[in-house]
Amino acid sequence: MTEKRNTYKAQKRTDYKAPNFTAVDIDLTFTLDDTHTIVKNVTTFKRLTSDTKAPLVLNGEDLKLNYVKVDGIEAKYKDVKNGIEISSVPDEFTVELENVINPSENSSLMGLYKSNGTFCTQCEPEGFRRITYSLDRSDVLAKYRVTIIGPEYGCGVLLSNGNLIERGTRKNRPYAVWEDPFPKPSYLFALVAGTFDIVSDTFTTMSRRKVALELYVDRGSYDRGLWAMQSIKDSMKWDEDRWGLEFDLDNFKVVAVDFFNFGAMENKGLNVFNSVYVMVDPTCATDTAFYNVQSVIGHEYFHNYTGDRVTLRDWFQLSLKESLTVFRDQEFSSDVANRALTRLHAINVIRGPQFAEDASPMAHPVRPEEVMEMNNFYTVTIYDKGAEIIRMIHTLIGESRFKKALNDYLRKFDGQAVTIEDFLCCFEESAGVDLSQFRRWYTQAGTPHVKASWTYDEANKNLVLKLTQHTNPTRDQKEKEPFYMPIRLSFLDKDGHDVHPAELSSDGFIIFNENEQEYRFTLDKDTFPVILRDFSAPVKLDAPYTMEQLQHMLSFCDDAFIKVDCATTMQNRYVHDNLEIAAAEGVLREPAELIASYKSILDSVDAQSDLILINETLKIQSIANLMETFDKINIDAIKYAHDALETKVAVSLVNEFVQLYGKIKASSSNYSVTDMGRRALNNLALHMIAVAKCAMDKKTEASEIVFNHYNGSKNMTDKLQAMTDAVHLDLDCKSEILKSFEKDWSKDALVFDNFFRVQATVPNKSAIDNVKKLLSHPSFDGRNPNRVRALTGALALSNPVALNDISGEGYDLLCKQITELNDINPSVAARILTPLLSFRRLDEKRQGMILNNLNSLMQMPKLSRSIYEKVSTALK
Ligand code: PHE
Ligand code: ZN
Repeated sequence: MTEKRNTYKAQKRTDYKAPNFTAVDIDLTFTLDDTHTIVKNVTTFKRLTSDTKAPLVLNGEDLKLNYVKVDGIEAKYKDVKNGIEISSVPDEFTVELENVINPSENSSLMGLYKSNGTFCTQCEPEGFRRITYSLDRSDVLAKYRVTIIGPEYGCGVLLSNGNLIERGTRKNRPYAVWEDPFPKPSYLFALVAGTFDIVSDTFTTMSRRKVALELYVDRGSYDRGLWAMQSIKDSMKWDEDRWGLEFDLDNFKVVAVDFFNFGAMENKGLNVFNSVYVMVDPTCATDTAFYNVQSVIGHEYFHNYTGDRVTLRDWFQLSLKESLTVFRDQEFSSDVANRALTRLHAINVIRGPQFAEDASPMAHPVRPEEVMEMNNFYTVTIYDKGAEIIRMIHTLIGESRFKKALNDYLRKFDGQAVTIEDFLCCFEESAGVDLSQFRRWYTQAGTPHVKASWTYDEANKNLVLKLTQHTNPTRDQKEKEPFYMPIRLSFLDKDGHDVHPAELSSDGFIIFNENEQEYRFTLDKDTFPVILRDFSAPVKLDAPYTMEQLQHMLSFCDDAFIKVDCATTMQNRYVHDNLEIAAAEGVLREPAELIASYKSILDSVDAQSDLILINETLKIQSIANLMETFDKINIDAIKYAHDALETKVAVSLVNEFVQLYGKIKASSSNYSVTDMGRRALNNLALHMIAVAKCAMDKKTEASEIVFNHYNGSKNMTDKLQAMTDAVHLDLDCKSEILKSFEKDWSKDALVFDNFFRVQATVPNKSAIDNVKKLLSHPSFDGRNPNRVRALTGALALSNPVALNDISGEGYDLLCKQITELNDINPSVAARILTPLLSFRRLDEKRQGMILNNLNSLMQMPKLSRSIYEKVSTALK
């Protein structure tokens, strides 16, 4: 038999049709069993269309159907593509049906599956149809009543959305009944059953209501859940304080599971989390992990309003809930952790992966026009660029009008499924702004390039600032219209003072919305503009600053982004200016200006300094972000110049780093924002010392100090830094540290992921051999997405040097893994495929090798829709 080649069709945004029916009440009974779970589904439907002949079509995938009754009578149905069709139904009726599913076999982690012994569900975007037949679309909102009968072998915890109505034992099996008072789309349904430790607490809301909080974690891991519980309470409080939003149920539950495709999921009243974003304590998790737990807990909690109470009409509107919620979680982290750090992280996501996506064949507008597989659209464009768009609206209208408009939006559309257009109209009306041209941010893909230049008009004592913008064509759109953007500005005089000319509004930004614009400011001659403060628009800025001006801004500007960006710009220029010599592996000059700036920073560091900002300024940026400053990528030359830059900085300033190391000590091993800054800077010092010693033929000394660092701290941030340096710099202490780490943590999957990640991210070819070897490590598990992301995923997404090794072995290895994952978990497979799509930016030899691999992926039997969409788009 010859296999039929898979082709899949794209859906278009403009093809949206309102549903013919809606579901009113859904009553589900789950009789749980590892391999044979029975789902009984009783749903009342109501016809919405005037076409009385329109049949009821229910979505269902990979289900075994036992029977269907309409109003109590066995009904005839027709199998249609991914579902069933029932014709001649009345205007209001009840469907009762029963189907069987196999949670143990479900490795896609969509629908109902078993994760390390726990039953759990993932329904967004279209997983509910893998649980039972339904109108599985986000504009059908129903009330749910859920009965869960535990498996025969027993199970302590049975959870679903909303309130517990009843629990007990029936025929020796535990059961529980849950009712969610809020109508919701099927993608927000959740069920969890298993054995857990429970962290309990309460939160008293602003109207003095008591909410019961419960966090479910692995048995024996109670303490690792405490920070997440604190973060839940902080999120609830912050949403009240900043936006006046009060929690709306009597209980809020969060469950940590080990097998999860993404970060976490905002199911109404029952958030389900990848355990990475819950389980932390200082000995097992880094400061960054603590920071991320707080931010992701916030994100999912904030969805309760932006996503759950007001939901999406269709999946093309995904950014409506995600961008607004990312904006909200960023503001939360800014207010409760650190504003500059949060902003700098967000900007790095835009300038790294998001700019890469904009330049790739999968580039898409924040509101896409065509989608084949929705799982492919949980992207940095939809999430993070979307959040930058919300941030621009916030800049344009200011905090108080934004707050009013957000509340108007949530009130106006409460309980409804709406569109980005609804959101924009509501904001226009409420805040009194015209966003018509601004809407292009939602319709045009691609990164705008903004060029700035300025001259001085002596006669009028005017600084004349000229801005131009241009956006490269993307596959879907050849012509781009100018974007409407706020450009935050300030001016620095020669003494480093801020000067505010009369022409600049007190908000400190100008509107730039044409291809070319000129602005005049009355200023003294040697004053110059500081452009795009706080990264006020997600663009690539090209401004002709001299090195002296960059140094001047770095010293005197009060904007965190500008400070760090001056250092970044100096680094970029060094790499660009030296690329040809680097390509020939020649001798590169010293980065003198950067070293001078760094020296003055290092000379003045003390306990009072803003250590987080200093650390961010001193960091040498990643090769991945450097790559995004080029159109065509010469990976070998970029790597060579990057390493030369880092080594030269490290060697020139080795005394300063030695001075710094150990000088600023964390007050304890616990997480706090202050100690995070202290540890970060100390660890940067360690890294630079190790790099310098290696370059100075003192590798033994490097090994010694790194080994002592590893053994001298109980804190995982410190240990991981030492392990990374030992492995990446191939120090003598490498195998001893790896052995000790394996001995301490091999039983602890989340922590042990680091063992895989560190070895997969060695920035040279040896990483490929490491990955090959570790694929057969006894604790490698291709069904655990965290493990896959820590090994193959790290090679693909965090190690451009090894992945693109000229031998082609990186590509072959990745594609072999993708082929295996295609059957196991297409969503994870499609994600780690991403870097290969941009093959046209590489040299011809690499292009050819990737092309071969992509072509053979296309030949794969049972090619998943996720991979088909990405590869076929790239090959077009
Ligand atoms: N909606 C989730 C979030 O961003 C992401 C997610 C999507 C999780 C699909 C699982 C599956 O908060
Ligand atoms: Zn989200």
